[in-house]
Amino acid sequence: MMGKFYKILLDIIRSIDLLTEIIWKIKIKKKILPITYDLTSLVIKKALEEYNNRGIKFNSYLDMGCGQIAILGLFQKKMCPDTKTTSADIYEKFISNAKQNALANKTNINFVLSDLFSNITNKYDLISFNPPYVPIAYKKKSFDYEKISYAGEDGTDAISKFLKNAKNYMTNNGLIFLGVNLFYVSLNNLQNIVNNFEYKVVETIKKKPHNCIVLILKQ
Ligand SMILES: C[S@@+](CC[C@H](N)C(=O)[O-])C[C@H]1O[C@@H](n2cnc3c(N)ncnc32)[C@H](O)[C@@H]1O
Repeated sequence: MMGKFYKILLDIIRSIDLLTEIIWKIKIKKKILPITYDLTSLVIKKALEEYNNRGIKFNSYLDMGCGQIAILGLFQKKMCPDTKTTSADIYEKFISNAKQNALANKTNINFVLSDLFSNITNKYDLISFNPPYVPIAYKKKSFDYEKISYAGEDGTDAISKFLKNAKNYMTNNGLIFLGVNLFYVSLNNLQNIVNNFEYKVVETIKKKPHNCIVLILKQ
């Protein structure tokens, strides 16, 4: 009961554009869906801020699965305008909506319609991904844009496909910020995938009190 109430409250808060604009320091011009970010996005945001505060600069950034706003790409560009940023998503409508928001924010982002790396050609100092990780059994009804959330039986399909290919698109010292909600995917399961594809965990960033984490990975 408390959990359901908490989720509804969170959804309402995340639908209020003014609040989103204050938290993310961006302008929202247009949206397709009411909710523009999730708790995992907030931990990736924290990771971007922490690296910036440590003086670690990324020359190039791939915001994989950018969503309808490209909220992470916009945030990084506002914080570090020099970062050459590419935002990619599998949904054409998200890309065209995100383009309009980038324009409204006077931000130069390169947008690519891509199924993971299918249309990506460059290598990046940083690739972030807040992937779909909800196991399909949680799905109660069909809706548009299901790849926002669902990724196979145990929620790891997109993570595995992403990690299988990501190393081909990273510069030598490149990093991955991979966000996951451990409520849906166990840490053990996640670590097995990371080990399988031979990445090293540099550190883990958390934002209590929820279960979302960001793994910072290198080759
Ligand atoms: C949880 S949302 C994250 C959106 C935004 N980056 C954020 O952090 O708030 C996951 C995003 O990944 C995109 N996505 C899912 N599968 C993808 C794929 N195979 N290739 C590219 N994008 C994908 C979805 O369309 C969605 O926009």
